[in-house]
This record gives sequence, C-alpha cells and structure tokens, in this order.
Amino acid sequence: MITKADRLNDVKEYYFSKKLREVAALRNEGKPVINIAIGSPDLNPPKSVINAIKTAVDIPNAHQYQSYQGIPELREGISNFYKDKYKVILNANSEILPLMGSKEGIMHISLAFLNKGDKVLIPNPGYPTYASVTNLVEAESILYNLNDANNWLPNFEELEKEDLKNVKIMWINYPHMPTGAVASKEDFKQLITFAKKHQILIVNDNPYSFILNEKPLSILEVEGAKEVAIELNSLSKTFNMAGWRVGMVVGDAEIIKTILQVKSNMDSGMFYGIQKGAVEAFKLSKDWFKSQNEIYEERRSLVWEIFDSLNCTYNKNIGGLFVWAKLPEGIKSEEITDELLYTKNVFITPGTIFGSNGEGYIRASLCVDKNVLTEVLNRLTTVKI
Ligand SMILES: Cc1ncc(COP(=O)(O)O)c(C=O)c1O
Repeated sequence: MITKADRLNDVKEYYFSKKLREVAALRNEGKPVINIAIGSPDLNPPKSVINAIKTAVDIPNAHQYQSYQGIPELREGISNFYKDKYKVILNANSEILPLMGSKEGIMHISLAFLNKGDKVLIPNPGYPTYASVTNLVEAESILYNLNDANNWLPNFEELEKEDLKNVKIMWINYPHMPTGAVASKEDFKQLITFAKKHQILIVNDNPYSFILNEKPLSILEVEGAKEVAIELNSLSKTFNMAGWRVGMVVGDAEIIKTILQVKSNMDSGMFYGIQKGAVEAFKLSKDWFKSQNEIYEERRSLVWEIFDSLNCTYNKNIGGLFVWAKLPEGIKSEEITDELLYTKNVFITPGTIFGSNGEGYIRASLCVDKNVLTEVLNRLTTVKI
C-alpha cells in the first residue's frame, strides 16, 4: 500500500469538487438541479478577447513555450490597467508577474515565504484555499474573525491579542468573498500600519474589484504599501475569463522575484493566445464594466427576492459576484442547503464552507441567467423556512 503524504492529513477535497459530483449524480437520475452556488461567470468574454486568441493560434511560435514572466505586452497591459483604474504605478519589468489564475498564486506565495511552522492569518469566513494551501505547506493557520457587526473587516483589537510573533503572511480579500464587504482606503491604511508594526506580508486577493463596486481600490494605493503588501488580481470575473486561467500578482520587485523563483520551477509559461486575449481585455473602455454591472444588478434584485422568500436578511450595500444572506435564527446552513437541493433541486452554497463564522448564512451566485433565477424563485416560493 502506497501511503499518501502527511501534509494531506489536514487537507480535504475542495467542497465544490465533491458536491458537484453529487449534483451531477442527481442530474443523471433526471433531477433538474439548478446551480446558483458557483461564481463562474456565464457571460462571454469580450469579442476583442476572443478574436485575439483566434488570431494568435496562427502566429508562428505561438505554440512554443512562453516566457516565465509573461510576454512584455501583457505586463505593459497590466501596468497600464493598474495606473488607469487604481492610480498605482507598477514597473512592468519587475513589479508584475502574470499567473495562470490568481488561485495558483496562493500556492506560489506560500511556498515562497512560509517555512514549516510559520503562522498565517486567515479570514473566517474566507476563501477556503488560503487555509488548505497553508496546510499543504505545513504552516499554521490562525483564523481571524470577521463578522457582520464589524462590517466583515478585521478587528485589530482582537488581532493584537494574538501571539503574532511567528506570523509571516496575512490574507485579506476586499471586496470580500463570500460576504461582498468592501474595504475603504482608510481600512487598507490601518492594515498596512498593522503589517508594518508586526512585519507581516499582507496579500490582498482582489478579483472582485470591478463587480458591482463603484470605487475599485487596490491596497497598493496606500502610500508605502509596497513595503509590506502585494496584490493578487484576476481576469476571471472582471472579463468573464475564469476558464482561461489568467491573473497576476503585483508589488515590490524583490517580492515578485522571490515568487518567480518558485513559479519558474512549476510551469513553463502561459499559452501565447491566452496572453494576447488578456492584453485586449485590459484595453476595454468603461462601457464594458457598465454593461456587465447592469446585468449583475438585475440578477441581484432577483436573488434578493429569492432570499426574501426564504426569510433571509442581507446587506444591499455590498460588492462582488454573490449575495450573502443571514438565515432566520436557529437554521443551520448545511441543513437548509441540503434541503433545498433534495426537495427543490436548487443548489446554494452553505456559509460554513468558508469557515465557522459562516454558520447561519448562505451564499448565492450572480452567474446565473435571470430566467433561471426566476425559475428558482418559482420553486422556492412554495417552501417557507
Ligand atoms: C476570493 C477568491 N480568490 C481567488 C479566486 C480564484 O480566482 P482565479 O480564477 O483568478 O484563480 C477566487 C475564485 O472564485 C476567489 O473567490
């Protein structure tokens, strides 16, 4: 018997990887399951992006290995995008590393900076990958509480009470997934002050900046932020390119070089056509963002109605691709999501997959056509909880 590595002892298969098998099995039995759980944009990428990848496949050398740091044109595109959208100046040669989706960056950053036993501050609730990757690299997670009362922002008084001596990385993610909470520049300033005081690398995971968010912000807008903070960003949600796998990590040149030290040993560059598509995406005008957000706004109103029918409450002043809703007192997240799956054929995400502070909440995605959301509403109006 070949035994698996000890590092897997505390790592479970990703919730959606497992649950989607169950959803597929139910569909095979003929159950018409509607999935409003996952944040995988159903809308198309822009036409110019699709044309760029089509044209790229006929270009000589397009099928060879590509640069470990991405083609210069892509890094220039990212640099211009950061200047235009966030007023952040990034050196395209040294402060930008394109990634195959921001998710892989979580592993690269962890491998680059964490030794066995180092501590990592992880939001609860938060994107589950931060904790799984921390386990995989045999570092130690310290979950920090986010809650409604604090607008899902870090509570510094509570954080200061932790033993922060061996903390090396703090993951933050604003606009926050799953709650949609948005951080202000003042909030980011406080985080940078905290990171400088304790010499912690803050990583802001920022894939939802442009979805239903009037004022996209980068943590790097804070003066002096580059000393202690880097940022992950992604084309997955902003340009409906989740399956393309393209994102980036940006920040101080030395930090980026250290991440490249890991990444250049793990892959051999990103497909040329994908990079050319990404270059086009960064050139899009304001109209793109406006058109996407109009669709998401309409869908969000329907999701609010869905949650009203379940007697849930929710904050309307949030950003991102999801609606996060509080269940009526005493109702458990996984009980209700399983009940809805088995009795109404509607798959919604239980808040608990994002951490214990997600108990009592559920999350719905806006990546679902309005007609489908209307069908969900019809199905649910016959169930009251
Ligand atoms: C908070 C957060 N970070 C990162 C990712 C991964 O995005 P990407 O597609 O760029 O890997 C997601 C995807 O759902 C996410 O919600």
